[in-house]
Amino acid sequence: MTAPRLLVRDLAQLATPAGRDAPLRGSALGQVDVLEDAYVLCAGDAIEAVGRMRELPALDGEVVEVDGRGRCAIPGLVDCHTHAAFAGDRVEEFSLRAGGASYEELHAAGGGILATVRATRAAGEDGLRAAVERHRGWMLRHGTTTFEAKSGYGLDRETELSSLRAIRDAGGVPTWLGAHAVPPEFADADAYLDFALAEVLPEAARIAEAADVFLERGAFGAIQARRYLEACRDAGLALRLHGDQFTEAGAVPLALELGARSVDHLEVTSADGVRALGGGDVTAVVLPASALFLDRPMAPARALVDAGAPVALATDFNPGSAFTESLPLVCSLAATQLHLSPAEALAACTVNAAHVLDRAGRLGRLAPGYRADLVLLYAPDWRYLAYHLAGDVVAGVILAGELAELR
Ligand code: NIG
Ligand code: FE
Repeated sequence: MTAPRLLVRDLAQLATPAGRDAPLRGSALGQVDVLEDAYVLCAGDAIEAVGRMRELPALDGEVVEVDGRGRCAIPGLVDCHTHAAFAGDRVEEFSLRAGGASYEELHAAGGGILATVRATRAAGEDGLRAAVERHRGWMLRHGTTTFEAKSGYGLDRETELSSLRAIRDAGGVPTWLGAHAVPPEFADADAYLDFALAEVLPEAARIAEAADVFLERGAFGAIQARRYLEACRDAGLALRLHGDQFTEAGAVPLALELGARSVDHLEVTSADGVRALGGGDVTAVVLPASALFLDRPMAPARALVDAGAPVALATDFNPGSAFTESLPLVCSLAATQLHLSPAEALAACTVNAAHVLDRAGRLGRLAPGYRADLVLLYAPDWRYLAYHLAGDVVAGVILAGELAELR
């Protein structure tokens, strides 16, 4: 007996990035197909058909119907940059920052990332699994049906590997951020990398899909980042970089030279960096919630799109620099702060984010053959995704063809 199909019917609108290509660049980023009075038919975990209600054929067999009246359907959102594997919080630091302390000062004083390292090491594998599950539930409630998450708050063998396993087992895409900060038990970054590459990389490479490095003053320099990334590439991992967040320290040229999947942040990227990314295949992942949360300049996303760079948007969800799991909020920031259209924002956190995770053939669009991941919006127009600032916009989520329970 085959499982019943799922029909979402009478949708006010269905909106999906146009075409089949990935990544989308330049004017193609803003091309969204919109169908009015639409349906989506799901069979198993895949989309069987989408169309207008008046063209809906008679359906044989058992069909479960979902009422889409007053709703718009968009593809399930893809968050390609999160740090969801953490324990504890940084609410105290948040209050200090509100009083004028800077993120970099707190980091230099042994707070910041290292405070979360202490809490995450203390949580143990079960505590960490519970935390990742909780965070996954938060993301789903905001329409994220696929999430990437990084380790990077363990920085010892056991906690890094438990972080990666917890992410994988919660259905996330694991990235080994083995070079996030230098933990206090090592004298310097090189001594830490000697350990991480010899003792953690071999097993991390079996669990993670990509490796990431924080290339920044006070974290890892360009020489160390190159050493880390080359070793990770040789172990079969795709490469990503945190770059140009506070200083332009060579992340963009290194990402281009090594053929990285992405370079993320880019708040201080200069015109030269924009031009270089415009001529290459490294996706620029822009994180406006992080810039907002730290009161930093916004990345030059408009210039990146206009230069032809593949651009994706993500939350950067983490306890220190971006305590938000909401991609709809990120879309609002994209429209109001980055000067991207709602259509560009949608493509940047669906198709292009799926491309960063090497899943654009199956995720990020509402079209036959794609995985049946849908977000139903409380909206007469799909652009409420960006328009309803921090609003109650997600009415429901369908995950791999099944209505998800939102906790
Ligand atoms: O992407 N910049 C480095 N890493 C994270 C922040 C991590 C933290 O503050 O805990 C980021 O912003
Ligand atoms: Fe990050």
